[in-house]
Amino acid sequence: MAQLARCALLAGSALSLATPAFAALAQSFQPPTLTPESVSTNYTGPSNNTLQNTPLVPGKAFDRFIQIWFENTDYATAASSPVFQNITKQGILLSQYYAMTHPSEPNYIAVVGGDFFGQPSDDFRAIPQNISTVVDLLEDKNISWASYQESMPYDGCTLFNYTSFDYLTDNGTYTYYVRKHNPLIIFDSVSNVTDRALRIRNFNDFAVDLNASAMPQWSFITPNLVDDGHDTTIDFISDWITFWLMPLLEDDRFNNNRTIILLTFDETETYTINNQIYTLILGGGVPKDLIGTTDDTFYTHYSALSTVQANWRLGSLGRGDTNTTLNNVFEFVANATGWKNNGISGNSSAIPLLNLTGNIPGPLNGEFYVPFTAPNTSAVGAGGGPVFVAAGLNTSLTAAIVPAPVNLTASGGDTPWAANPGYDYPNGTKTFTNPPSQSSTSGSGKLVAPALAGLFAAFAMACML
Ligand SMILES: *[C@@H]1O[C@H](CO)[C@@H](O)[C@H](O)[C@H]1NC(C)=O
Ligand SMILES: *[C@@H]1O[C@H](CO)[C@@H](O)[C@H](O)[C@H]1NC(C)=O
Ligand SMILES: *[C@@H]1O[C@H](CO)[C@@H](O)[C@H](O)[C@H]1NC(C)=O
Ligand SMILES: *[C@@H]1O[C@H](CO)[C@@H](O)[C@H](O)[C@H]1NC(C)=O
Ligand SMILES: *[C@@H]1O[C@H](CO)[C@@H](O)[C@H](O)[C@H]1NC(C)=O
Ligand SMILES: *[C@@H]1O[C@H](CO)[C@@H](O)[C@H](O)[C@H]1NC(C)=O
Ligand SMILES: *[C@@H]1O[C@H](CO)[C@@H](O)[C@H](O)[C@H]1NC(C)=O
Ligand SMILES: *[C@@H]1O[C@H](CO)[C@@H](O)[C@H](O)[C@H]1NC(C)=O
Ligand SMILES: *[C@@H]1O[C@H](CO)[C@@H](O)[C@H](O)[C@H]1NC(C)=O
Ligand SMILES: *[C@@H]1O[C@H](CO)[C@@H](O)[C@H](O)[C@H]1NC(C)=O
Ligand SMILES: *[C@@H]1O[C@H](CO)[C@@H](O)[C@H](O)[C@H]1NC(C)=O
Ligand SMILES: *[C@@H]1O[C@H](CO)[C@@H](O)[C@H](O)[C@H]1NC(C)=O
Repeated sequence: MAQLARCALLAGSALSLATPAFAALAQSFQPPTLTPESVSTNYTGPSNNTLQNTPLVPGKAFDRFIQIWFENTDYATAASSPVFQNITKQGILLSQYYAMTHPSEPNYIAVVGGDFFGQPSDDFRAIPQNISTVVDLLEDKNISWASYQESMPYDGCTLFNYTSFDYLTDNGTYTYYVRKHNPLIIFDSVSNVTDRALRIRNFNDFAVDLNASAMPQWSFITPNLVDDGHDTTIDFISDWITFWLMPLLEDDRFNNNRTIILLTFDETETYTINNQIYTLILGGGVPKDLIGTTDDTFYTHYSALSTVQANWRLGSLGRGDTNTTLNNVFEFVANATGWKNNGISGNSSAIPLLNLTGNIPGPLNGEFYVPFTAPNTSAVGAGGGPVFVAAGLNTSLTAAIVPAPVNLTASGGDTPWAANPGYDYPNGTKTFTNPPSQSSTSGSGKLVAPALAGLFAAFAMACML
């Protein structure tokens, strides 16, 4: 405990990076590109070659899985949108799908890591390299993957946010890109490995990859802060869907008869209701007899992990992805793979409250800090494969023996994982900045708010496990 407290004290001088809440602005949708398949100077980043993919690995129920996440919308709000009502007829409505907590960032962490590790905020986090993600599971079976982040300036960008030309008003600049919505960059196991970091691409790359028929088998797509509804409304999201997604649904290079597309939200806007979010499965891979149906099985963001695991017979992370209360596999995929769901559906009282916020102990929570624990290495997930154990993972510190939470902020500290490790890929090569850069503005290349955090990264590493 003394060791933990000392580490925390040293790491704690990092700047606090809490983001202000944004009121919905009265912006109206403007397309950032001529078509979804064209590159645009409205995006800062250059396109960089074409994604290189391993040969296709057939799955049991689908060969391509595309996830698109929108922001902060209650179920009823999405259900009231004519565009959502319209596309619902083209796929399966998952009417009991839940986010894990509030605010945004922990939900993005959860959907690739199987846990949100107590993350209570949208502040800067860098999760240590021996904590695994879905990328480890996919690469283990040679399944190609990428993430497409709209308005991210360059591949593998580790900045906290990025401000670029305001194409909506044609006047000034706007912060369109944020790290907190880029799930894989937050994990050092992805972003500190150059080949992996460069698979986190922007929308100019998306255009290039689409035109080259190079979509990977697994992808996570984050529209920018206006197109995903974060700074705007359901009407803006609807206009973006009409502009961007509708034509791509008709494009074989994006959506073929072995593709499924998961359209969902990170969380509800209202914290005082349970975290139920409007979720659709679209794509040519949806069985014809299920088009236009509703599935009221209880699903969570961990279902996006377990469904992928079941489909490709992957291993698991041994975290929430193997928790049989939370990891139901999308029913048609469960049926195709022989996985048995837990039977929780409809308005069952067995659905837990998933709107608890801020006070969940974990290594990313400075007020309720506990160290990272090893996954449950004996868990068996929906893919049947082994739990992935990263190099350097101490498997002896398990959840069963984790110490009581400590309030590190009480002694002026914070979680050690608030420290910025200080690497980035501004030209496709790993570079180090000291002090690390936190945000940037197009054109100037100037560091807006350099933080001291990187100085403490070494101490943070020493505190791990
Ligand atoms: C940039 O966005 C504006 C607003 O939608 C649009 O008029 C313009 O054509 C876009 N530029 C490019 C190169 O796509
Ligand atoms: C509904 O979808 C159809 C088919 O894609 C499209 O033609 C129509 O414009 C859509 N209507 C709305 C309100 O989005
Ligand atoms: C551009 O933005 C500036 C600063 O917000 C404002 O003063 C100006 O009126 C705007 N110009 C136009 C043409 O909207
Ligand atoms: C799926 O698409 C492929 C390639 O276009 C085609 O060969 C195949 O027959 C299609 N399968 C079904 C079930 O439509
Ligand atoms: C979570 O939602 C429930 C309603 O389902 C509500 O009673 C409770 O107060 C909410 N919790 C918080 C922390 O807002
Ligand atoms: C699984 O998730 C449920 C609901 O959040 C929770 O109550 C339970 O403790 C979890 N089980 C394990 C083994 O973590
Ligand atoms: C899954 O299998 C069960 C049991 O055979 C069946 O009742 C259900 O309709 C199937 N669901 C889907 C979506 O295929
Ligand atoms: C932790 O300490 C901070 C600073 O003293 C305090 O504001 C906060 O309420 C404490 N949290 C808990 C859970 O005790
Ligand atoms: C990043 O990886 C390098 C080795 O490539 C290692 O020396 C360094 O400690 C890692 N940084 C972090 C923060 O894990
Ligand atoms: C990238 O930038 C680094 C640091 O400025 C430099 O050392 C390296 O040569 C550059 N690499 C390329 C490919 O431009
Ligand atoms: C472009 O991608 C290649 C790998 O395809 C990589 O070697 C190179 O460094 C990348 N360049 C930039 C500027 O991201
Ligand atoms: C961008 O980052 C800077 C510096 O870290 C911060 O002050 C600002 O609030 C952030 N803006 C957004 C929109 O996240």
